[in-house]
Amino acid sequence: MLDDWNKWITRQLFTLKSNGLQRNLIQTSQATQPILVRHQAKLINFSSNNYLGLANHPKIIQAMKDGMNEGASQASSRSLVGTSKAMKQLETELAKYHNHEAALLFSNGYMANVGVLSSFLSHHDVVLSDRLNHASIVDGIRLSQAQHIRYRHNDIDHLQEQLQKIDCGKKRIWVVTDTVFSMDGDIAKLQELVLLKQRYGFALMVDEAHGGGVFGSQGQGVVEQEGLSPHVDIHIGTLSKGFGVYGAYVIAQSNWIDFLINRCRSFIYTTSLPPVVISGIKASLQLVKQGDHLRKDLRKKSVYFRNHLRDFGFHTFDSKSQIIPILIGDETKTVLFSHKLEQRGILSLPIRPPSVPVNTSRLRFSILASHQWNHLDQALETIQQIGKEMGVI
Ligand SMILES: Cc1ncc(COP(=O)(O)O)c(C=O)c1O
Repeated sequence: MLDDWNKWITRQLFTLKSNGLQRNLIQTSQATQPILVRHQAKLINFSSNNYLGLANHPKIIQAMKDGMNEGASQASSRSLVGTSKAMKQLETELAKYHNHEAALLFSNGYMANVGVLSSFLSHHDVVLSDRLNHASIVDGIRLSQAQHIRYRHNDIDHLQEQLQKIDCGKKRIWVVTDTVFSMDGDIAKLQELVLLKQRYGFALMVDEAHGGGVFGSQGQGVVEQEGLSPHVDIHIGTLSKGFGVYGAYVIAQSNWIDFLINRCRSFIYTTSLPPVVISGIKASLQLVKQGDHLRKDLRKKSVYFRNHLRDFGFHTFDSKSQIIPILIGDETKTVLFSHKLEQRGILSLPIRPPSVPVNTSRLRFSILASHQWNHLDQALETIQQIGKEMGVI
C-alpha cells in the first residue's frame, strides 16, 4: 500500500519536473530589500511584496521589539484567552481607517478568504468569481460547497450573462474579486461591479491583498480610491505586503463580523496572532496612513518600468499597478529567461501553471518604493538584451 503511494508521488514529481513546473525552496537572505542574496550572489529583487519598503522600517522593528515584552505567543485562540486589549484597539482602528462598522484580524489572507467564504456561503448559494482570483478564494468557495461560477477575467459582460441565468428570487448571490490581480497586475472594474450589484442585489466581496497600502488616500486600497467603500460588503486586507508585517483583516458590518466570530472555522480554531505582530501592525498602520510620498514614488517607478518594457515590445498584459508581468508563454522558456536574468544579477521568478493558465507563463516584476532608479535602469537594459537573445521581442 505504502509502495503505491511512493510510486504515485515519484511519478507526479517526475511529471512536474519534465514539464518545467517543479517548485524548489531556495534559501534567500535580505528578501525584503531591493537587493537580496541568493546562492551567494547579490540580485536586484523583483519578487517581493514589500511594496512600500516598510518591512525594514526602524519604527516597526522597534514596535515589535517592545511588543515582545508581552510574551512570544498569545498561546490561545481568540475566543478563549487570545484576545488582548491591543488587538481590540487595533480592530477598532482598522474599522475607523475604512470608515466602517467593524474589523476582525485573521492570521493571514489565505485563512481570511477561506474562512469568510466558507462561513457565509453554503450549497444553497451561488458565487461568481473572477477567473484570476487568488487560490485562497477558490479554496474558500470549494469548501463552502456553493455553486461556483467563474466569469472570464475582468469581463463584466460575461459576469452579467451569468447573473441573468440565475433565478435571483430563489438563490442568494455572492460576487468576489481581487482588486489588484496578483498575476496580471491589472485592476478590477469596480465601478461596473457596483452598478451590477445595484441591479442584481448580490453581496460584494473584495480582496485588497495587493491594493492595501499602495492605493487609496491613506493606503486603504483601490475601493476607497474609487469612492466605492459603502458598496462593498466584505473587504479583505492583508498586512504582509504593502504593510510589511503579517496577518490579515476583514472589514464589514458589525453583525457580519459577529457572525464570523461565531462561525468562521479558520478564525475560531487557531491561535491568535502573537503580540509582536500586533505591535508591528499598529506601527505599520500609522506609517501607511502617512505614506503618500511612498505611494507616489512607487507609482512613478512602476509607470517608468512598465512604459519601458512596453516600448521594448514586451506584452505586459493590462498591468496598471506595481505588479508588472511580461508574457513569455512556454513554461521552459520562461524558466530559462528567469535563469538568464539571475546570472546577470536580477531576480524575477517564473510564474507558471497552475498559478496562471497554460501557455501564459510569465515573469513578474514587483516594483518596490525602495528600488533605486539605477536598479530599474540596470534591470531594464538586461531584460531587453535577454528578450532579444531569446526572440521574445
Ligand atoms: C490576492 C491575494 N489574496 C490573498 C493572499 C494570501 O495572503 P497571505 O499571504 O496573507 O496569506 C495573497 C497572497 O499571497 C494574494 O495575492
